[in-house]
Amino acid sequence: RTVLLSGLAGAGAGVAAGVGGALAAERPAPSPDTRLAAGRASARAFRGTHQAGILEAPPAQAAFVAFDLHEQADGDAVRRLLTVWTDDIERLMAGRGTLTDLEPELAAVPASLTVTVGVGPRVVELAGAERPDWLAPLPAFPEIDALEDAWGEGDLLLQICAESPTTVAHAQRRLTTSVADLASVRWVQRGFREPFEGPGIPMRNLLGQVDGTVQPDVTGLDADLLWVGADGPAWLRGGSSVVVRRIGMRLDAWDRADRAARENAIGRRLDTGAPVTGGTLDSAADLEATDELGFHVIDDAAHMRRAHATAPHERFLRRPYSYDDGVEGGGMRTGLVFVAFQADPARQFVPVQRRLAQADLLNLWTVPVGSAVFAVLPGAGSGEVLGQAMFA
Ligand code: HEM
Repeated sequence: RTVLLSGLAGAGAGVAAGVGGALAAERPAPSPDTRLAAGRASARAFRGTHQAGILEAPPAQAAFVAFDLHEQADGDAVRRLLTVWTDDIERLMAGRGTLTDLEPELAAVPASLTVTVGVGPRVVELAGAERPDWLAPLPAFPEIDALEDAWGEGDLLLQICAESPTTVAHAQRRLTTSVADLASVRWVQRGFREPFEGPGIPMRNLLGQVDGTVQPDVTGLDADLLWVGADGPAWLRGGSSVVVRRIGMRLDAWDRADRAARENAIGRRLDTGAPVTGGTLDSAADLEATDELGFHVIDDAAHMRRAHATAPHERFLRRPYSYDDGVEGGGMRTGLVFVAFQADPARQFVPVQRRLAQADLLNLWTVPVGSAVFAVLPGAGSGEVLGQAMFA
């Protein structure tokens, strides 16, 4: 498609068919074998200290799938489920079908697939492990919350990410059917990011904002903000936690705000993502700068000011995905699957969310409709099953 579009731009639409044909002859489309080789080469490692799907640049497609264990489930059911998923996920990420895969061809291109497993309090309890205090619903934020049960807490979470929607759909189906006698799907939240942004470049959300600019250095100095350490339960060391908040956007109201109001809401420019105090995307925001009347240039209720850490521990890794599930009156089926990873959500995430609930201009256009917290299991080392330390 790239070849055809660049040909059209140069030659004019009148000769589109001819140009397309000529270019196709000049630069043949990659053969199916070449495409397959590229997709296969994109396999991500499953085994390691941490699970995959957290540090990697987020691929374009995702499904967040929450499960409820069946009522009669016990510790053994949890162990069996995690054993099945460990094998399934290792195979799928390597581009192989699962043991019971009827269409292993659909698994052949891993397309950077990662599957990350989280567990809720009931799983920890059934396994007989120590539950961290934070593994519970977030406190209520009555100023903003319009939470629907349909997007609430579950017993298990799969975060499935890949560059290909087919890969995501296939992994979701296999991982759901393989544990069907043990757990059922509670909700599925599909999400997407821009496939045409390079890795590591923040995405644009559906309000048009560059989103994901200010992040802790979780592969360097700030790694402790991400991974559970010696002060957490032994079974969770090397793991993390994830907060998944489904946040609807009132796009009709957003459309009515002028550009200055929209930039003021965040404190950043819509075009470049730079702070409204100047510079480029990577420039530090000047929170102290004032205008000729003495008002802060970055509004006192601007999202970035209110979300900015007031202490070093008030930081977390944001890894959101957009959703757009069709049209409904106020556009509320469009929004952000807000996803944050951190070692301790009560300490790191909640103070920021509380500040945003109390005052944030963005609240005029956004409404949280779902909220869930999961413990993210540590990675599985060679020969290990995900979560096996819970049973120690
Ligand atoms: C920054 C959008 C919800 C925490 C930003 C930025 C945008 C943005 C555009 C500025 C660029 C950047 O640094 O990424 C949104 C939208 C949301 C949302 C559209 C909802 C639909 C949240 C929530 C939290 C949060 C729920 C946490 C409770 C942050 C943080 C920053 C940030 C920590 C960086 C602040 C800094 O500059 O230090 N957000 N956000 N955001 N947001 Fe959000």
